[in-house]
Amino acid sequence: SSVAVIVVAAGSGTRLGLNRPKAFVEIGGRTILSWCIEPLRALADLSLAVFVVPEALVEQATESLEPLDHLPAVVVAGGATRQQSVAAGLAAVPEGTDIVLVHDAARAFTPVEVFDRVIEAVRATGHGVIPGLPVTDTIKGVATDGTVRDTVDRSTLTAVQTPQGFPFDQLTEAYRLAGGDFTDDAAVLREAGHPVSVVAGDSRSFKITTVDDLDRADDLLRRSRP
Ligand code: CTP
Ligand code: MG
Repeated sequence: SSVAVIVVAAGSGTRLGLNRPKAFVEIGGRTILSWCIEPLRALADLSLAVFVVPEALVEQATESLEPLDHLPAVVVAGGATRQQSVAAGLAAVPEGTDIVLVHDAARAFTPVEVFDRVIEAVRATGHGVIPGLPVTDTIKGVATDGTVRDTVDRSTLTAVQTPQGFPFDQLTEAYRLAGGDFTDDAAVLREAGHPVSVVAGDSRSFKITTVDDLDRADDLLRRSRP
């Protein structure tokens, strides 16, 4: 069955604060966008990769993707919110595709095993699948005046990552119906009444968000390239 991946890379990187879109920031001599292509090269059954970038950078991204040889890829312009960028990417996925993965470019070091795990579970269940990690901190509710409320039972929580995988038909239907502002695609699917389940994520899939995360990425690269 065919699998398409939408890589959303159209954010501005405000929290990183480097005055350029985050996906075009370099780590170890390569852009974040270029790093997140690595696991895709190793994916079997990948029929299409859609890269969603800021409108002003579509041309530059298309050129930088040229040496991708066998990986079929297109670059499209994103929107003002992540949800709009996913919708723009989804419009470039052809009818007849079986499974669509939606991935944050900012999770540039996600291992290929996570992609494989998500795809396999979508195939097995026929519904949405997201990678998640157990929550390790103690989590408490807090009132607006700062008063601490109860501790939340950690065993009922998962910290969610990407790639999130869905049957193409469910994702397109859910996006057609979606209002509001959702922070991830699983929430869009749940709103449309579709079940979603969780598989094991990976600590290397952390989202590059602040300058501290650039140090973390450098450490990860140093350890993987002795
Ligand atoms: N994203 C996108 N289009 C948007 C907003 C976000 O494609 N309008 C993508 C980002 O490029 C990123 C992923 O969604 O890969 C997760 O978003 P986030 O980490 O918040 O990235 P930014 O929005 O770029 O960062 P910030 O919120 O700090 O500006
Ligand atoms: Mg953002």
